[in-house]
Formats: sequence, C-alpha cells, structure tokens
Amino acid sequence: MIFPENFLWGGATAANQVEGGYAEGNKGDSISDHITGGSRTVKRIFTKEIQKDKYYPSHTAVDFYHHYKEDIQLFAEMGFKAYRMSITWSRIFPLGIEDEPNEEGLQFYDNVFNECIKYGIEPVVTLMHFDMPYYLLETYQGFTDKKVIDLFVKYTTCVFNRYKEKVKYWITFNEINFATLPMGNLEVLGIYDDRTVDYCEPYDDMNKRYNALHNVFLASARTVIEGHRINPDFRIGSMIANVTLYPRTCAPEDMLLVKDMDNVFHNFCGDVQVKGEYPYYMEPYFKENNISITITEADKKILKEGCVDYYTFSYYMTNCATVENGHEISAGNLLAGVKNPHLQASEWGWQVDPLGLRYTLHKIYDRYHIPLMIVENGLGAVDQVEDGKVHDTYRIEYLTHHIKEMGKAIEEGVNLIGYTMWTPIDIVSSSTGEMAKRYGLIYVDKNDDGTGDYHRIKKDSFYFYRDVIKNNGI
Ligand code: BG6
Repeated sequence: MIFPENFLWGGATAANQVEGGYAEGNKGDSISDHITGGSRTVKRIFTKEIQKDKYYPSHTAVDFYHHYKEDIQLFAEMGFKAYRMSITWSRIFPLGIEDEPNEEGLQFYDNVFNECIKYGIEPVVTLMHFDMPYYLLETYQGFTDKKVIDLFVKYTTCVFNRYKEKVKYWITFNEINFATLPMGNLEVLGIYDDRTVDYCEPYDDMNKRYNALHNVFLASARTVIEGHRINPDFRIGSMIANVTLYPRTCAPEDMLLVKDMDNVFHNFCGDVQVKGEYPYYMEPYFKENNISITITEADKKILKEGCVDYYTFSYYMTNCATVENGHEISAGNLLAGVKNPHLQASEWGWQVDPLGLRYTLHKIYDRYHIPLMIVENGLGAVDQVEDGKVHDTYRIEYLTHHIKEMGKAIEEGVNLIGYTMWTPIDIVSSSTGEMAKRYGLIYVDKNDDGTGDYHRIKKDSFYFYRDVIKNNGI
C-alpha cells in the first residue's frame, strides 16, 4: 500500500460541534446556536428565541474555545499533517452585516492557526459548516436573498486577507448537496418557514430552496475567484456528502432510480462546482417539480470562473434504493435508504461499507479528474471509560478497513491527497445533538446529563491512528 509522501493525514471538526464559547469574544448567534440537544429517540428542535429551560449543545460543545492549545497538541502527538476545522462566520461578523469585522473573533482563529503551524499541521478551513449568523436568517431568509451572497463574500474575503500566509486549503460550503433535501433549508441555506412543525421534516418550498442553492453556488464561485486573486496558491475546494447508492435488485428500474437519485443528490452540486455549469439532467427534474431558476449570463460567467481546485467529501456509509415496496429501511447520514443485506450497521443504523469507499473514490475521480480529499469518515459509537481508558476496538476496525480501501484506490490511480477522519476528538453529534454518539480518538468527559469536567482521555484509537500516520498508512 503506497500513500504519497506528502499525504495529508489528519482529522476534522466543525466549529459549532466543538467550540462552545457561545457568549465569548463578541460572537453573534449562529443558526446552530438555536438548535436544541436530542438523541436517537428525541428529535432536536429549532427555536427562534433562546429559551432558558432548553439545552443548546453548541453553546458549550466540548469547549475547544478554551482547550484549543491542549487539543492541537494532542493532534500533533498523533502526527497530524492536517487539521480540518471551520470558522464561525458570526465570530467574524456577529450579525453578518457589519462594515468592520470583529477583531476578537479574528484573533481567536489567528491563535488556532498559529498553534497548528507551530506543529507543522496544515489547516484545512471550511468557511461555512451549518452555521450562518442567525440575523441573516431572520432578516433575509438566508440565501433566499441575493444580498447574502455579497455578505458571504465580504466575510470570506476578509478571512482570506487575514490568513493568507497561514492557510492554503479552503472549503467553501460543508455538504452543499444537503440543500437538495428539505433538511438543507436551515443548515445550508438559512431558510426557516414558520409553518414547520418538525425540525427534521421542515416545511419545504422546492422552488425557493433551489433558487437559494443557486445563490450558494454563486457565493461559492465568487469566493473561489476572490481567493485566487488574493493568493494564487490557495486551493479552494467543494464539499459533498457522499452516501453512495446501490440498486437493491438487478431490475433495470432500480438502476435507473439509482442513476436519478445519484444525479440529484451527488452529481448536481459537484458538477456545478467542478465543471462550472448546470448539468443537462437537472432540466427534467426542475420541470417535474415546478422549479424555475433565473440564471443570468453574468451568473454563468461567475460559475465558470469560480470552479473549485479540489473535491472533498464525507463518507460514512452506503445505502440501497429500489422501486419495490416493502424493503427494510436503513438510517443514514442525511439520506435514509433501503437496507443492504450484505452490510452491518453501526449502533445508529448507519451501514458500514469500506469497499464502497473504494468504489466511491473511483466514481468521483473518474467523473472529475481533480485531486480528491476525504474530509469526513468515522464511526459514531457509545464508548465506555474503564480505569481511565477507552478500548474502542470497533473504531479501530472501522478506520483500518476504510484506510485499506483508500490505499487500494490510490494504488489503482485515484489522486487522493488527504484524509481527515471524523473526528480527532469527541464532539456533539450534528443530527442528534448528543454527546453519546462519540466519534473521537480523544474522549471528552462531557455527558448529555450535564455531568463531566471536560478532561481529555486518549482512546486506544488515538495510539492506533498515531501509528498509521507514523508508518504512512502501512
Ligand atoms: C456530516 C456533517 O453530515 O456528518 C457533520 O458534516 C456531522 O457535521 C457528521 O457531525 C456525522 O453526523 P452525526 O449526525 O453523526 O454527527
């Protein structure tokens, strides 16, 4: 197995899931600050006001805001070459509309990047990971309004200028293709409709959603253009959630269904961001769903000029699809599907499929032929602390199999430049808002019942991953 010498081994987190420090450093409210904690059985709720009797996990998260030095030192101990993290937009522009950025927010990320650089860790920075300033939702319904494109570009150019000597790898929007699903309204687009009853099944206006997504494409493309102007060495990437789909049966109808789902969920956003234009196959989908997007000649030019330099993606699992009724359903990262009888699932019902990762790497590379980076892949599980140790053999097993398949894909010619596993340290789960679903190589003593003193414990997987990096994947 041969990983390139400069392969970016590392880990990934998102600000709203690790930082905490809610009321510190003049930070404004983010959308994620308005989403309550939940669990496998209790759904999260979005509230317009922060309610005293409710628990909002992002407010404290795992307190990276105060522990970043210790945490990055631990990442360095594992030999990290890269750390994927995100900037909270509302730390830089608290409401999103200010003329001047918030110096305290900028300083915080300066400190974080300095710490990474001290250990030779390359920051890979996501500009928006599900946390638009809340004010922009209230005032503009997020990216529904074209003004928010300008505000986003103001924010991204501000951080590009500030960190141009410290950061080379950027990602515009986390899991942008989430916006092809109703759930993406809130987290990617900043849209919330008061007719929503269930946060997990929001009121959805498809025409509005796809028009807002168009504005996100423009915001991303303009960011890429500005970024390259500010520093031609910047590498600015897309980020797509990949839930690879298999036909459940060999019926041609199932194959066609998979093709259609794959096009809308995976390929559409990837094609616009990598190839710089809307793909032909979306036309019938738009027509069928009464979606009409105004795309001007100027928009087309921006999309063409703002193509990304590399393609990043998350990969946790695969699912099946079929036109047949009556098959068992499997849970999933954003996209639920039909169960695959050949796969085992995690405790949260996500089907584990290392071979699927190799298949996915080929599928994407064949389509785009630009460098790829896996920026999320890991196992959410319940961990037990025994005598101050966590023996997470299941996580080691998960990572081992996925890393092996990654290695094979590289040997087979895929240009994979990095792997930032999810996550180096326990975080708040995004879908369920709980700590119980732990992903980390480092345990954080914080529990959903409010107990815990936030101290960090190296899990067995910490030592495993350290050795993987030391031996460059062998
Ligand atoms: C991805 C998100 O969808 O999946 C992360 O980018 C998230 O923010 C990850 O944490 C895992 O999902 P969950 O719901 O288990 O936290």
